[in-house]
Amino acid sequence: MRFLRNFVFIALAIVLVGCAGVNQNLEIQVSEQANPWTHLNLYNKADNFQFAIVSDRTGGHRPGVFADAVEKLNLLKPEFVISIGDLIQGYTEDDAELNTMWDEFDGLVNRLQMPFFYVPGNHDISNPVMAKKWHQRLGPSYYHFVYHDVLFLCANTEDPYRRCIGDRQIEYFRKVLKDNSKVRWTLVFMHEPLWKPDEKFDTDKGKENWHKFESLLAGRPYTVFSGHQHRYDKSVHNSRRYYVLATTGGTQGKEPTLAKCRFDHIVWVTMTDDGPVMANLLLEGILDDEPCPQ
Ligand SMILES: [Fe+2]
Repeated sequence: MRFLRNFVFIALAIVLVGCAGVNQNLEIQVSEQANPWTHLNLYNKADNFQFAIVSDRTGGHRPGVFADAVEKLNLLKPEFVISIGDLIQGYTEDDAELNTMWDEFDGLVNRLQMPFFYVPGNHDISNPVMAKKWHQRLGPSYYHFVYHDVLFLCANTEDPYRRCIGDRQIEYFRKVLKDNSKVRWTLVFMHEPLWKPDEKFDTDKGKENWHKFESLLAGRPYTVFSGHQHRYDKSVHNSRRYYVLATTGGTQGKEPTLAKCRFDHIVWVTMTDDGPVMANLLLEGILDDEPCPQ
């Protein structure tokens, strides 16, 4: 009889949780006395999402690295993948050669199980022939989209030449930002880190238009992602984060002092209420389910 009373008490103490709200997909038996978990506030807000960024593939292309990243992205399964440019080696006006380069690259990203968003770098648009080729194969060299109330700006820093966002592009983004003034966050993807001076390629026009572009972003939460330098860097300007990513196959320098900033990676971004949270995943640290074949 005592055993039966204890059993009923324990049974009453257990409730089936299938409650509304954040845990509506969770069914679990909860005891009032003790449970082997911390809490049940699953990190699954409907507006949070995750995507990946890949960095420079070329500029001293090391074969196989980007292809490895594609396989590992298919393991990680972000919702989509976005680039910051230098996808092909480029620097040619030979039509057949350009088609071969783009066919090779498209063959890689077409193996991704999720969408891939192209952004041009100086190796992708180096001359008017390459600009025309981009337009023929990929359409616009700058564009935007909105996902879960986050505005993505994909800019072309080779318009019409190195380290420049052209006038028409400035006007395009001026309208986009005006039309999307209330989004919860804005993310900028562009190849060259225009906030860093480059004596060799900077022009008055390029600098002027960068300041125009940056002023369009003022007053809203935003984060900037770029590449080109093949070494990782994070800085804060105007209380906003500006990143230069390392490589996903591009050449890596040998300066010992910068060794910690040089790696092949995928950036894993989780969009939260407080902005993007970044995790740098080294390609060599992403292993499939058979890391030690028998
Ligand atoms: Fe570059």
